[in-house]
Amino acid sequence: MEVSPDRPHVLMMSEITADGKLTLKKGCSSKILMKYMDHATEILLHQTRAASDAIMVGSNTIRIDNSFLTVRYVEGDNPVRVIPASMADIPPDANVLSPDATTIIAVSEKAPRGRVDALRRAGATIVLAGTDHVSLPRLMQILSADFGIRKLMIEGGPTLNWHMLHHRLVDEIRLIHLPFIVGGSDTPSLVGGMHIESEEEMIRLSLKNFFLCGTNLVTEYDVLYTGGGGGDAAGSG
Ligand SMILES: NC(=O)c1ccc[n+]([C@@H]2O[C@H](COP(=O)([O-])OP(=O)(O)OC[C@H]3O[C@@H](n4cnc5c(N)ncnc54)[C@H](OP(=O)(O)O)[C@@H]3O)[C@@H](O)[C@H]2O)c1
Repeated sequence: MEVSPDRPHVLMMSEITADGKLTLKKGCSSKILMKYMDHATEILLHQTRAASDAIMVGSNTIRIDNSFLTVRYVEGDNPVRVIPASMADIPPDANVLSPDATTIIAVSEKAPRGRVDALRRAGATIVLAGTDHVSLPRLMQILSADFGIRKLMIEGGPTLNWHMLHHRLVDEIRLIHLPFIVGGSDTPSLVGGMHIESEEEMIRLSLKNFFLCGTNLVTEYDVLYTGGGGGDAAGSG
């Protein structure tokens, strides 16, 4: 897929169960499932982080998982950490604000000043990227133009994944398949958001690689965006 020069190349990477879920149940940290990844796959995940200029996850993932988003299992630099949080609702003592790497919190004009100031004092770099909500296309432009980010990986959760896909901002997907079924109709799956209305809106993928990493199957796709899906649907939710 051709990537616009004014935004980073974006790789979505996720651990998913055989039934496509990201956690044991709604509100649960994905760290529980991650314990069951083969160590070879943990290394792959951290190699991918080290090969990225930046890593982005949703604000709810930070509140639930309290992730560090650093490189620990391989040698390499920590990527810049990016969290879209329209209302700046990230705890100032969150692990993602550790001094290990730069952390960019993207906020909207509606973000309360007190929260923004507290995050700044905690070491965050604050970026204004929208009026009511963070505009992900705008954020991508800012990351490219102001921070020189060329390669961005996103590690979920499902709401952020959906908004990124429906703004046509994802180029590749790499999935680590975990051999479990967890069930649950409201258990977070790879992509959340709104359902589609017709098959024309399906986002098409092209499988380009698959391999065993330790005992885990890994699949890699290009995102094609050839159908009518995307764009407008992202405005809601
Ligand atoms: N297995 C895995 O690989 C994995 C990885 C990550 C997370 N998870 C799991 O996923 C769950 C959390 O996922 P989640 O879906 O609840 O939350 P999330 O995707 O982590 O966070 C929601 C994100 O969507 C953004 N958003 C909402 N509306 C938007 C809009 N209109 N435009 C742009 N951005 C918008 C929010 O930003 P605002 O604050 O600006 O609204 C926020 O950053 C947790 O249980 C976590 O453990 C699993």
